[in-house]
Amino acid sequence: MIEATNISLAFGAKQIVNGFDLRVLRGDRVAFVGPNGVGKTSLLKLLLGQIAPDSGTVTLGTNLDIAVFDQARARLDGEASLWDNLVGDPLMAVSGASDQVMVRGRPKHVVAYLKDFLFDESQARAPVKSLSGGEKARLLLAKLMALPSNLLVLDEPTNDLDVVTLDLLQDILSDYDGTVLLVSHDRDFIDRIATTTIALEGQGRATAFPGGWSDYARLRFIGFDTETFDNAAKKPAAPTSAPPPVKPKSKLTFTEAKRLDSLPDLISKAEAELAKLSTLLEDPALFTRDPVKFGKTSEMVAKLQAALQALEEEWMGLEAKAG
Ligand SMILES: Nc1ncnc2c1ncn2[C@@H]1O[C@H](COP(=O)(O)OP(=O)(O)OP(=O)(O)O)[C@@H](O)[C@H]1O
Ligand SMILES: [Mg+2]
Repeated sequence: MIEATNISLAFGAKQIVNGFDLRVLRGDRVAFVGPNGVGKTSLLKLLLGQIAPDSGTVTLGTNLDIAVFDQARARLDGEASLWDNLVGDPLMAVSGASDQVMVRGRPKHVVAYLKDFLFDESQARAPVKSLSGGEKARLLLAKLMALPSNLLVLDEPTNDLDVVTLDLLQDILSDYDGTVLLVSHDRDFIDRIATTTIALEGQGRATAFPGGWSDYARLRFIGFDTETFDNAAKKPAAPTSAPPPVKPKSKLTFTEAKRLDSLPDLISKAEAELAKLSTLLEDPALFTRDPVKFGKTSEMVAKLQAALQALEEEWMGLEAKAG
């Protein structure tokens, strides 16, 4: 649905992304995480074609129907009732029926639709201004989800949502059959939703990890900073016929000695992680239950294997050099 190839963007000295690649497929749920001001919203805009990269290309699929959940910009008429806010919305109106709303191409009774969003009948005629913040957010969701869409964009949707609305939003996203792009600081929410997490780490560093925040954090924890990880995965396997020349018995530098010390631990952590991911793939139900996650996990296993091999080669090289 979206293909970004080698995109770079900087605002003055502020690098947002640098040579970033991403392919978003139908049904993917992509979360963007990173500190305030790192460039999450800008990356979303790049991916949606709203701003142009300095270099590289973004290609959007045809027939994209984008729905944006934007709490700040979306408008509700505070004086009008919930009922009138829905029935009176030209995008939701059903001609000739004043008690129906169009929900993804099908007419539905407005009260029944409000019930889907946890409002009871007595609230239907109340003015929107009497609603709590969480209730207003729920009404906005009702408007958003009524429109046909296949790409849902949520930029920090969970800020100030009450628990009931958070659960509802999670259910909605789980049932949604389109693609989701989500910016959030809510780790738990991301864990429950995301199939891929893009970590923005500053200076244009942005890397895709399979799974949610916990998966990302775990991979970072085992010592793969994103650069090492990517480079190791990209590095072609060394030809077995020509082992790298090592100077026997030569002394290691201080940095090399420290690195050699830390490598066995890194290797065993990578091995443990690889074993865990491989076990996931052995579950025959995973492919049918969640083909996206299955695909991402397979990709990650391949990357980890390459990274592990690179670490082992590095270890052997340093061992040989140390004599
Ligand atoms: N059009 C622009 N021109 C110049 N600088 C911009 C522009 N848009 C964003 N920036 C800057 O780029 C940086 C990233 O902004 P962005 O809004 O993408 O960050 P963010 O990760 O979404 O932050 P937050 O978590 O606060 O929402 C900020 O320093 C911002 O001031
Ligand atoms: Mg932002």
